[in-house]
Amino acid sequence: MDNKIAIAIFASGNGSNAENIIHFAAENPQLFVACVITDQPAAGVVQRCERLQTLCYTVPRQHGREDQEQRILTLLAKHRIDWICLAGYMRILSAAILAKFYDPLLEVARVINIHPSLLPAFPGKNAYERAFSAGVEQSGATVHFVDEGVDTGPVILQESFPRYVTDTFEQFKNRGLELEYRLYRSALKLIAEQRIAFKIPPDTDHKTDHKTEQVRGN
Ligand code: GRF
Repeated sequence: MDNKIAIAIFASGNGSNAENIIHFAAENPQLFVACVITDQPAAGVVQRCERLQTLCYTVPRQHGREDQEQRILTLLAKHRIDWICLAGYMRILSAAILAKFYDPLLEVARVINIHPSLLPAFPGKNAYERAFSAGVEQSGATVHFVDEGVDTGPVILQESFPRYVTDTFEQFKNRGLELEYRLYRSALKLIAEQRIAFKIPPDTDHKTDHKTEQVRGN
């Protein structure tokens, strides 16, 4: 797997995004999912990994945050991870993990996340529920780089989807999840092709998107 870009997926829940990433990487010659890391022993992602024969580590926070992060850092080093993909991971990553993955060319850490809203709208937990309750006509999904905030890092890809008046919450959420899978695959393709970049927010002086060659490294 030496020439491939090694990915670690972090997930805390059902794991449907993790499964999507695992399938996409299996089809892509540049990508390799080295492991999945979860903080929740009973999470659905654990069973998915068994079925998909993907290495899954359970690293709970039973001995505190520092101990958990130290164990995670050890696993990331052991597997020579290049990129971390958060997929429903319900913890804030520490400065120590982000610093280990900081990429000076990208000017961000090589850590990305999917969030089920049109950020900056509805950051944090239960974004589908809150958008649906707010009666939005459009919601969306966002793939973004991870920083120390809650869903605040630079946006890589973002797309909207409609909420129809007849929608049940499940129909609304399922439409969003389908978009999440597609968007995450597009972001992984950018990583594989070393074309990942983030969009400069419109209120800056920059006229074009930030484009940086991604250099593989640990
Ligand atoms: C997804 O909606 C993701 O965007 C959010 O949490 C959910 C995780 O779903 N952060 P799954 O565990 O990938 O099925």
